[in-house]
Amino acid sequence: MSVVALVGAQWGDEGKGKITDFLAREADCVVRYQGGSNAGHTVVDGGRKYMLHLMPSGILYPDKLCVIGNGVALDLAILVEELKTLESQGIDTSNLRISNRAHILMPYHKKFDELQEHGGRQLGTTRRGIGPAYADKMERVGFRLADVMDTDFPARFAVLVREKNRILQRLYDHAGYDHEAMLDKLLGYVEYIQDYIADTSLLVNQVIDKGRKVLLEGAQGTLLDIDHGTYPYVTSSYPTAGGACIGAGVGPTRISRVVGVAKAYSTRVGEGPFPTELDDEAGSHIRERGAEFGTTTGRPRRCGWLDAVVLRYAARVNGLTDLAITKIDVLDEMDTVKICVGYRWRGKIIQEFPDSLRILQDCEPVYIEMEGWKTSLSGCRTYEELPTAARRYIDQITELTGVRHCLIATGPERNQTIVTNEVFARK
Ligand code: IMP
Repeated sequence: MSVVALVGAQWGDEGKGKITDFLAREADCVVRYQGGSNAGHTVVDGGRKYMLHLMPSGILYPDKLCVIGNGVALDLAILVEELKTLESQGIDTSNLRISNRAHILMPYHKKFDELQEHGGRQLGTTRRGIGPAYADKMERVGFRLADVMDTDFPARFAVLVREKNRILQRLYDHAGYDHEAMLDKLLGYVEYIQDYIADTSLLVNQVIDKGRKVLLEGAQGTLLDIDHGTYPYVTSSYPTAGGACIGAGVGPTRISRVVGVAKAYSTRVGEGPFPTELDDEAGSHIRERGAEFGTTTGRPRRCGWLDAVVLRYAARVNGLTDLAITKIDVLDEMDTVKICVGYRWRGKIIQEFPDSLRILQDCEPVYIEMEGWKTSLSGCRTYEELPTAARRYIDQITELTGVRHCLIATGPERNQTIVTNEVFARK
């Protein structure tokens, strides 16, 4: 049995798409387990760039079972569009399966997200309807793909749309939705994806039973987790390793390794505390060199030094067994590089990631400063080929987190990945 859960160890955008794509080569099955079209991953293959939002990165491999799990919030319009785009690029999508228990993200979810952001809530969401869709799921008024097949679905849908319209009209002065037009569209989308719909928990567990390799792919990151993140500046799902079990329908005893993907520096999009944020030339340099602009929204990402307090926290709440370190080449031109090892707050040094937003906002990061390597890492193919200063930086991360590294990415291409430890068990 070899089941690897892959999670973001920071605030999302850690380069999970590239690492998933790399590990997917070895896996027999790749499962996306939470989030929705708020995610955006870019996979570069042979100079060709694929921008994916809902699709698991494994979709580019026709021989892998590729699953959208029950934990994903499904925007059917985006899903169908993404499928059509992939098909037009010659990608075979017949290996895709979508959970019958996945909740559908409706047009009114997007509208509520937009209106709430405009209305002063200002969490800096992607406005993809994520919060409202998961809220309906928890409130037990959401609709799963399986529900659409039920004969009473049109009637239940009509009642709910009427209720949503009342809120939209009274609170937001919005005209509301024509439920029949929405239903027609919805049924059209469901018909389009009909052949992909399955009991995916059953399928994935069957793959595991056969001793095959499964990769559970998280979106966003640990610090955006609804429970473990910097609440309320979080997303509305569970990007952490526990979420992999829930969102894929796989028990915790079946997971063999948990890989945290960490960028060699930190970024964050949207609002919320970010202790190591850089508001200077170094921050702008990282943003430009690292192309730190949102895949989904195009927003410039906030950039800062690597934060080992965050990584230790991610190691704890996810039970990380491995770290995949990405985009280290972005730091190639730095004279010195810094890692935050604690937060100074009211004369004390805090070493465990705090729950208080006030502390996170007001603290001063305590850094260790290291010599930069001042040379391009993009051609390095083994750990030994890395310059000493880069190796020292990586070793420092291992020492500070207590987690071994398994992969080091030195550029966007598949072959710009150094394997330092295997994560899938050899057969
Ligand atoms: P939501 O997920 O659209 O509700 O947004 C909530 C917060 O999570 C915002 O700060 C977003 O910028 C952030 N967020 C959501 N998805 C991603 C992602 O894929 N990468 C980075 N940040 C994200």
